[in-house]
Amino acid sequence: MRHPKLPPRLELPGRGRWLWTCRAGFEGHLYEELAWQKAQPKLLGPALVESDSPKSAPAFARQGFVVDASGPLEALHAPRGPGHLQAWVPDTDEGNRLSGGAQTLLNSWREARGADELPTAKAAWDRGTALFQLAVLSPQLGAVGRVMARDALSLAPGGRHRMLRDRDAPSRAALKLEEALETFGHSPGPEEACVDLGAAPGGWTQRLISKGARVVAVDPAALMPELLGHRLVKHVRSSAFGYQPPERTDWLFCDMAWRPLEVAALLGKWARNRWTRFLVANIKLPMNDKNTIIFRVRALLEAGGWQQVRVRQLYHDRDEVTVTARLER
Ligand SMILES: C[S@@+](CC[C@H](N)C(=O)[O-])C[C@H]1O[C@@H](n2cnc3c(N)ncnc32)[C@H](O)[C@@H]1O
Repeated sequence: MRHPKLPPRLELPGRGRWLWTCRAGFEGHLYEELAWQKAQPKLLGPALVESDSPKSAPAFARQGFVVDASGPLEALHAPRGPGHLQAWVPDTDEGNRLSGGAQTLLNSWREARGADELPTAKAAWDRGTALFQLAVLSPQLGAVGRVMARDALSLAPGGRHRMLRDRDAPSRAALKLEEALETFGHSPGPEEACVDLGAAPGGWTQRLISKGARVVAVDPAALMPELLGHRLVKHVRSSAFGYQPPERTDWLFCDMAWRPLEVAALLGKWARNRWTRFLVANIKLPMNDKNTIIFRVRALLEAGGWQQVRVRQLYHDRDEVTVTARLER
């Protein structure tokens, strides 16, 4: 499918439609997956797409909400009712210049909401209430709406889930893993057995052992020196395609820089052999036709037996998506 062009000027989302935000430059991919779901998408501007309600959560959206109203900011009102109010701007240079104004408006609306306002998105999730949304789309225009916190793609405003960079983390890779685990809502615990395919230089392995997990790091490339000889780390210096675990493991991690369909077939094999229980994988998508590849990756994983397969382009993902899944025993 040829992706349509962005409109020359920002367009506003319609009442009752979903407003989605994504990584800038990925609007066409988000449009396409919504079109495949027959959700009547429309590009509104950089990092912004609207649609009808889709059947399943789109992989390329960072956040989405049902629009109650859109128009000049001074004509919009703070939503009523219990929940937590967030504000976000499109993640573009122009959008980021709106952050200060958005924060000022957010503060005054939160004050106006009084006791209805819950202190955090997590509190809204715990209470099963709404995550109210204020999207500031230009210096004059915006949209307000809501999504139930438990249905939201992210609890972070605009899905911008910034993880703090650990002084010891060797790479952006470690941030991707932390965001993936937080989104999954589950992490390896002490002594749990993990296999990390494509582990070098070791950012993911390092995060996993910091949780007390044991890690077999499979990669022909070298690991950073501090991981060598660590009691929780075993480095298998070979290709992941020839590796077979000697016993069942708890977690399979995969950040291999390799062709997505071959990686998905390998992950499917792990499920078929019931070599593990949980999966967190980063799938590289350097090609233009990303949705077709995602569709086939998902099919390969499900054919292997993986359940609850979720595919998302998270905040720290670039030309890639994060896949999580589990195997029921
Ligand atoms: C993006 S890096 C992984 C970064 C790692 N997650 C970290 O946190 O440091 C991709 C890795 O995939 C590895 N890789 C590529 N093909 C592989 C294969 N067939 N088997 C194992 N590792 C492979 C590369 O050697 C490279 O170290």
